[in-house]
Amino acid sequence: MHQFRYVGNKLFCEGVAIETLVKKFGTPLYVYSQGTLAGHYQKLDAAMSGVDHLICFAMKSNSNLSVLRTLANLGSGFDIVSDGELHRVIKAGGDPRKCVFAGAGKTASEIEFALKQNVYAFNAESEPELERINTVAARLKKIAPISVRVNPNVEAKTHSKITTGTYEDKFGIAFEQIEGVYARASKLKNLRLRGVQMHIGSQITETTPFEQAVRKMLPLVTKLKARHALEFFSIGGGLGIVYKPALASGSEAWWKTAAAKNILTPQKYADRLLPLLQPLGMKILMEPGRFISGNAGILVTHVEYVKRTGRKNFVIVDAAMNDLIRPAFYEAYHEILPLAKKNAPAISSDVVGGVCESGDYFCKDRPLPKFVAGEHLALMSAGAYGFVMASNYNSRPLTCEVLVHGKKFAAVRERQAMKEIWSGEQVADWLK
Ligand code: LLP
Repeated sequence: MHQFRYVGNKLFCEGVAIETLVKKFGTPLYVYSQGTLAGHYQKLDAAMSGVDHLICFAMKSNSNLSVLRTLANLGSGFDIVSDGELHRVIKAGGDPRKCVFAGAGKTASEIEFALKQNVYAFNAESEPELERINTVAARLKKIAPISVRVNPNVEAKTHSKITTGTYEDKFGIAFEQIEGVYARASKLKNLRLRGVQMHIGSQITETTPFEQAVRKMLPLVTKLKARHALEFFSIGGGLGIVYKPALASGSEAWWKTAAAKNILTPQKYADRLLPLLQPLGMKILMEPGRFISGNAGILVTHVEYVKRTGRKNFVIVDAAMNDLIRPAFYEAYHEILPLAKKNAPAISSDVVGGVCESGDYFCKDRPLPKFVAGEHLALMSAGAYGFVMASNYNSRPLTCEVLVHGKKFAAVRERQAMKEIWSGEQVADWLK
């Protein structure tokens, strides 16, 4: 559920008309609903209440300081993948001791910073990494808390670019090698084996792959716990969201029928997993990103031109692939809605940006109400992997981000000033 809906014929985020935000902040514009972020976190937290657990929000999905603060205020920890993300947690007032540090390429300086901040655990992805963490910890006279990321080799049935739990992927250490890795790691003096971790992929919309992976892991986790006194088992993130129909998925009535619709809900996820996890007697960590932030944000854009070619109706907007790359990169679907509902007949349309790439589109051949220049559209479900994947491609400034809370709103990131795009660059002396 989320809090974007039409009131009369105007699209609202919580108590604020998006139109009001457009007037004040311009476009392209990311708009986040604080109530939706909090609601998703709380739903998952409540569903998992049958086990001792910690939700570590995967902040790679949305790392705006106000988003992080909203979740930190609710007790969330964070799944981080760089020292930059850890700096953000600290800046946002989050607790580094509730952070798990993931990623296959941690540098020595990142490890040092994370150790100094006393992160909850490093999710290590290789033996050379374990050795490096041990060396850095020894130098700092510290003991590094460790879990190893197990690759359970389970097919998550999601997009090939976001599946991570099979041996075709670069992630984690193969299931069969894990016992040996823990045995060797236990001899490294500056490591403390604290847990074990898995993650099978992203945007998984059925409970079965999660259940299969947990079932496969259970005997291994039980053995490792007994041998190394592990405290926690992290079951990763990956819970999928409803992209289609995004608007309907905001309403309670729609969710009431979700069970029949074969839709993943926190309750279904917990009902399938808790009976398996409870007997372990371990703390359960989770790393959801998209589930919390995905439907909590939209990208608002202005229609610059409508162009009809012999075969196509192109709606050219002021947002582009540099602002939201998911359709170009993953052929991802984002529902497109007008800010002011209209009764215009549907016409097959391509909504595209102004970047010089044919991949710069938000949808192709989609029946949409006939739009005209000057109108505004919302790209729904853009709260996860939206702004965080934005770039300055074509020297386009990063967009403004706004947070809404009831009737209140604030720019939580200003639109990037043009000169900041090249700040840090210079013309080499010999060219002058
Ligand atoms: N834990 C680990 C180890 C991960 O690699 C990821 C995501 C997560 C947790 C969070 O996954 P989530 O709960 O958000 O599904 N940019 C892509 C998604 C990439 C996901 C990368 N890893 C997209 O836009 O769909």
